[in-house]
Amino acid sequence: MQSRRAFLAGSVFAPAVLLGKTSYSWAEIEKMIARGDVKGKLSKADLPTPALVLDLDAFEHNVNKMVGFVKGKGRAIRPHGKTHKCPEIARRLVAAGAVGACAAKLSEAEVFAQAGIRGLLITTGVVGPYKIERAVRLAKLAPDTIFCVDNIKNANDLNEAARAAKIKLNIAVDLWVSNRTGIMPGEPAVALVEAMQGLSNLKFTTLQAYAGGASHVTGFEARKKVSQEVMAKAVETRRMLERKGIACSHLTGGSTGTYNIDADIDGITELQPGSFMFMDVDYNRIGGADGNAVYGDFKNALTVFTTVVSKPNDDLAIVDGGLKAFSTDKPFPPKHKTDEGINYAFGGDEHGKITFARGANTLSVGDKAEFIIPHCDPSVNLYDKMFCVRGENVEAIWKVAARGMSQ
Ligand SMILES: Cc1ncc(COP(=O)(O)O)c(C=O)c1O
Repeated sequence: MQSRRAFLAGSVFAPAVLLGKTSYSWAEIEKMIARGDVKGKLSKADLPTPALVLDLDAFEHNVNKMVGFVKGKGRAIRPHGKTHKCPEIARRLVAAGAVGACAAKLSEAEVFAQAGIRGLLITTGVVGPYKIERAVRLAKLAPDTIFCVDNIKNANDLNEAARAAKIKLNIAVDLWVSNRTGIMPGEPAVALVEAMQGLSNLKFTTLQAYAGGASHVTGFEARKKVSQEVMAKAVETRRMLERKGIACSHLTGGSTGTYNIDADIDGITELQPGSFMFMDVDYNRIGGADGNAVYGDFKNALTVFTTVVSKPNDDLAIVDGGLKAFSTDKPFPPKHKTDEGINYAFGGDEHGKITFARGANTLSVGDKAEFIIPHCDPSVNLYDKMFCVRGENVEAIWKVAARGMSQ
């Protein structure tokens, strides 16, 4: 019988050296994965599929580039944790120079706080008595957490709960600048901040302006125009507050698509991009400042690794990753990581249909195929863990601990 090593050496993804042993049974691999004891032992070819795979070299490049750029512009960076949902990544971002982490929802922030991450900003309002009770508990654990507010009722409710708990809550007023949540910038926002001045258990420090409608505008110049226009409203709101003598030390916003636009806008103090660390097909398509149609500022670090499980005919292969492996709201499919001629189409919940351009490499049953994800955030939310690799070697396993935390 062919040895496992000889079998793998002949396959598309030959493993790098397996130290210590020449082959492992699945029972052994299962134990290694459970213990996270994989470095120097497992290769990508060993992973059960579909698997979420993070290329550490590309990830570290992306983190260093983004953090270095933003800090070089004299701004703070608080990367969005909704992208990674992974405390280990939040820790690494802070070690690289981030001031903390954004969280989309309260439950996501709770996971980060319990993992010891501080400098949290929850970018969506915390509404209703149960959530507010939890917010107070979170603020006791992580007192520097910032909560977003966009209406006076919610501000009053938070103030009441904070007063009863004898604490102060840090508050950002969330501005509707495009396509997410918030109060209208200008007079309405200023009136809200003024009304909050009488709420003694709230401490207003920050305006938040996330322009989701700007981040994916195709073409750098067009994107710049949109972002500058909408962010100007946030900057002006900050200036209006200052003219009234109300301190507003922070204005936070921005995204992977607009980081190199927003970092040059006077009055923005902090950026909160997320996707840059992983990238996805959606962001690959927006075009860069260099005029290139492919947005090459950051590398594709995140993929889903699949296996061909069926080959109905020479022109069609079926992989074991479908909608449960790639969650997307985009009108385009996953993209093969290296081979332009290998095309993916969704084949239902569990499968993908692979066709081959004329002259392209083909795939056989048992072969692995690695795909760039159409939209990274919701896909990461499908996995309990990500396998971190350097080249073909698996170096670590990181828990996606806030996976499913959408409350
Ligand atoms: C409030 C907020 N800030 C920042 C981001 C990060 O955007 P991106 O992943 O495009 O960098 C998001 C993403 O949806 C967001 O909702």
